[in-house]
Amino acid sequence: MKKTLAFALGGALSLPAFAAAAGELNLICSADVVICEKLVSEFQASHPDTKVNMVRLSSGEAYAKVRAEGRNPQTDLWWGGTGDPHLQAAADELTAPYESPLLADQQDWSKKQAEISGNRTIGVYTGALGWGYNTKIFADKGLKEPACWADLLDPSLKGEIQLADPNSSGTAYTALATLVQLMGEDQAFDYLKKLNANVSQYTKSGSAPVKAAARGETGMGIVFLHDAVSQTVEGFPIKPMTPCEGTGYEVGSMSIIEGAQNPDEAKAFYDWVLTPEAQNLMPESGSFQIPSNKNATPSENVPDLSTVKLIDYDFAKYGSSETRKALLARWDAEVGGAATE
Ligand code: G6P
Repeated sequence: MKKTLAFALGGALSLPAFAAAAGELNLICSADVVICEKLVSEFQASHPDTKVNMVRLSSGEAYAKVRAEGRNPQTDLWWGGTGDPHLQAAADELTAPYESPLLADQQDWSKKQAEISGNRTIGVYTGALGWGYNTKIFADKGLKEPACWADLLDPSLKGEIQLADPNSSGTAYTALATLVQLMGEDQAFDYLKKLNANVSQYTKSGSAPVKAAARGETGMGIVFLHDAVSQTVEGFPIKPMTPCEGTGYEVGSMSIIEGAQNPDEAKAFYDWVLTPEAQNLMPESGSFQIPSNKNATPSENVPDLSTVKLIDYDFAKYGSSETRKALLARWDAEVGGAATE
């Protein structure tokens, strides 16, 4: 009742004002640290009674933390990061069902995430997988523009590619699941074993590879397209691309932890972060995913996904515990690689 009234008032005044909550909020943030910090500071400004303790963890690491905390959770809310580990946590009942008053304002892909998880998670942004390459390095070394997945196996790219480790990174898990859906599982692992010859490093965080390419430490990084765009917007010689054969995408998600010690604060942040006002902070912070709220203001830097050849990514399957565990075990056994960053 209280929440509905607060929502109605918030709507009328166009302010993101929801249930007043006091205390603490323990937040895991799995997107870029700049937007994580921005969300925390803006939330604190409008909710001065709540102290937010935020930790930035990659999606797979966040899942592992939530799982390790189990029935004695130290975390209240997990915002951002790819949807697959959020769905796995939902299936494990590590996260709690919650229906926000803002659910109706979200895009269909966001609501679908809620639907398939019994409201234990919800989509907060989306973006396609691709890569960014350093045009200066490629020109200096006379390398051909990498337009297709197949091009990445060319021996001329030996040592020029970075991507993350799919155990820690949701970006890299999205790449693994995308290749399996595009090629079939055995062919995808053959591809990844061949690609391994050109990979100089498997990083811990998903966006690290394109940041390394921007700094000139490697030729290219397999990352989300919007992470490549962020580097271009920053002024680095990075060209964002999506592969000619087709590609997958993420539905970055958010979940309240089952048995959270601060459920009211978690719900207050959850409702606030689904507002257009909160979502408009993303492009301001150099994050160019497509926001979930239909009324958020689109940024001209957000990639137009209608021009990208997207696969029909099966979130229910690739976010299931069984499939995610099996693919990661096979990746460890057949591809491996130590996370270094
Ligand atoms: C970046 C992207 C996000 C994505 C996240 C996943 O921050 O901008 O859209 O959800 O990476 O991070 P991870 O380290 O798990 O790959």
